[in-house]
Formats: sequence, C-alpha cells, structure tokens
Amino acid sequence: MFRFYTAGESHGQCLVAIVEGLPGGMAVDQSAINHEMRRRQLGYGRGARMKIESDVVEILSGVRDGRSLGSPMALRIENKDWENWQGIMAVERNETVQNLRAVTRPRPGHADLAGALKYHTHDMRDILERASARETAARVAVGALAKLFLREFGIEVYSHVIAIGPVAVSDDQMASLSLIELQARAEGSIVRCADPQKSAAMKDVIDQAKANGDTVGGVFEVIAHGLPAGLGSHTQWDRKLDGRLAQALMSIPAIKAVAIGDGIGTAALPGSQVHDEIFYDSGQQAFYRNTNRAGGLEGGITNGCDLRLRGFVKPISTLRRALQSVDVISKAPSPAAFERSDICVVPAAGVVGEAMVSLVLTEAMLEKFGGDSIAETRRNADAYLATVRQY
Ligand SMILES: Cc1cc2nc3c(=O)[nH]c(=O)nc-3n(C[C@H](O)[C@H](O)[C@H](O)COP(=O)(O)O)c2cc1C
Repeated sequence: MFRFYTAGESHGQCLVAIVEGLPGGMAVDQSAINHEMRRRQLGYGRGARMKIESDVVEILSGVRDGRSLGSPMALRIENKDWENWQGIMAVERNETVQNLRAVTRPRPGHADLAGALKYHTHDMRDILERASARETAARVAVGALAKLFLREFGIEVYSHVIAIGPVAVSDDQMASLSLIELQARAEGSIVRCADPQKSAAMKDVIDQAKANGDTVGGVFEVIAHGLPAGLGSHTQWDRKLDGRLAQALMSIPAIKAVAIGDGIGTAALPGSQVHDEIFYDSGQQAFYRNTNRAGGLEGGITNGCDLRLRGFVKPISTLRRALQSVDVISKAPSPAAFERSDICVVPAAGVVGEAMVSLVLTEAMLEKFGGDSIAETRRNADAYLATVRQY
C-alpha cells in the first residue's frame, strides 16, 4: 500500500514526511527532488517568505546507494525562517517570551476562525501554522519521488498556467503546441504560462493587485502523458480515479474547483460536441481519438489519452489592505491580521498540483501492477501492456 504523511508548522523547525510503499531498486536522484522544490518557490507574485526559504530535502531513511530500499522513506525540509521564530514556536513553555505573536483577528478565507472555534483556542497561530500552504513543500518533496517512480514507466506529469485574474490563454492555441513545446515555454515564463504575450499581461495583473493591496487568483492545468489505459476503476465510488484526482487537487490550499478535461464548459454544450469519438487504425492495430475533451478519463478509468486536469485557485485571503474582522478577545470590530503574504500563487499551486496528481497516479499504478522491486512492477506492467496491445 502506497501512502504518505506530512507534519510540521509553517514557522516550526522543519517539515517532515514519511512515504511508504514505493518499490525497492528505484533510482532516487536528490537533485531531481530539489529541482521540484525550487520550482514550487518560483513564480511572480510570491511574497518575502520565498526569498528567505530555499528548500532542500534531506533523505533520512529508505534510500541507500542512490536506490530505494522498499522501506519507509523519511524526508526533512528545514525552515530557514525558524531562527526568527524559535522563541515563539518553541516546544517548551517559555516564560521569558513576552510576545507569542498571538493572532486574535481572524483572516476571512483562512482556517483561522473555524479552526479556533473547533480547537477552542484564542490564539489563531495554533491553527494557521499548520493550515499554511508551507506544508505543500513536503507534498512536493514526496511528489518528486512519485515523479521518479512514474518516469520509470515513461510517464511525465507537468503543469502550466492558463489564467491569472481576467487574463486567459486561448485553449486552441495551447492545443496546437506539442507537449514538449508547452512545457519548455511554461518553464521559461515567470508565471509558468506558455503564451509569452499573455505572460506579460498576467504579470501586469499581479503588479496591479499588489499596488492595490489586493490579491489575484487563476487557473492551472496539469497534464500527465504516457499513462496506460486501465488505471482506476468503475466498480466502486471510492476507486474511481476521477474522484480521487479531484480530491487530491481540491486538498491544495486555495483550490476551489477542479475540472477534468473540458469539464466545466461541457455542462453548457450538446453531447455531440463533448464526447471523443472512437476510431480504429488497422495499420497500427490501435484505437484512437481525434479529440481529448474527456481529459483521459472515462468512467473513472484512464483511457490512454493524456490526463488533463484544471485547478481553479482563489485570490489568496491575506490582503495588505485588510478585510473586516473581529478581535476574538475584545469582540470589537477590527481589520483582519496581516501575516506576511503572497499576491498570487497560481504558478506555485500548479507545481503542487503536479505533485498531487503524481501521488495519485503512483498509487493507481502500484494498485494495478504491485511489486516489491521496481523490476517486478515493470514486469507486471509490461505483461499487461502486451495483453492490451493484442486486444
Ligand atoms: C503555494 C501556495 C502558497 C500560498 N500562500 C499564501 C499566502 O502567502 N497567503 C495567504 O493568505 N494564502 C496563501 N495560500 C492559500 C492559503 O493557504 C489558503 O487559502 C488557506 O489555507 C485556506 O484554505 P482554503 O482556501 O483551501 O479554504 C497559498 C496557497 C498555495 C497553494
């Protein structure tokens, strides 16, 4: 069984993750993991925190001589900002710390008030330290391991930004780019958008939001290429891969909707313009489609087309021009607390989206093909693919 857990507070000493169930014998390249960590920190519109942190993953167990052992892997990511927060975030009770930087004015759109009511605390730092998206650094670290696993089977997962505020790329233009071209262009853009003109306009939208003391949201797309048909299942609600992917993406802080393929737009169209007709190439002896509006999933099962998923990111909740709130101690109206904050996180959210999609796909691959060693998993996958080819 493939599973992972993360722990750690935003301004605590470090983030940790434990990953279990990856097969042994898999090449583990630390530089590939740290490359993913850097990608999460980039993106125009990030705040001062990302200038302090430069995330590096330390692997504490489960890897030897550059290969996975099949035993649990423990990962650690230091919070560089910890040195500024040691007193405030100390484990021991510290009578000498005069200012615990208690947060008593909940920020609308954050877990602050709901969490404080739930845990009966009047210091919302107890909640926000864990609710913070800093935790997604640990997910990206584990997701990088999942990406290495998927790569063993020729599966690549990446993302690009398709909208920031009112500026959106043209779907037709994106569809005309090869996947390699799309990826190269997105990696070269400060907002991870494959259209250079739209990238410049998106940067302007972020600058404008910053000037207004405001924030801005948008949409990213995650694509998984090279997947076999047959991952997931139609047989039970909680095994459907579309549902599992949507849950994984929805769990990313600030994601408020997920679309699969043409998703949201299909609700307004007739069926004749929504479904991907099926053809057979007798030369290649293979089924094919001329469109991929379903985004690679039918009935909760991968159909062999690229997986296409969209995450809709809300404008983040901490505004420099603070929203109205109430002090939970005095009950007096007061502006919401301001904790150092980003302006736009859509490019970074896309990188976290890649991690979450990679984790679900790794789980689905291991469910279908199993194996204690990567060689065994590959043998099982090859045997299945040979059967599919002979269909
Ligand atoms: C990569 C990333 C960075 C984020 N940074 C911030 C931030 O600096 N300030 C903020 O208010 N929200 C930020 N968020 C969003 C909040 O964490 C999120 O809105 C909050 O925890 C409430 O969760 P919800 O929006 O999913 O309901 C970030 C989200 C992501 C994905």
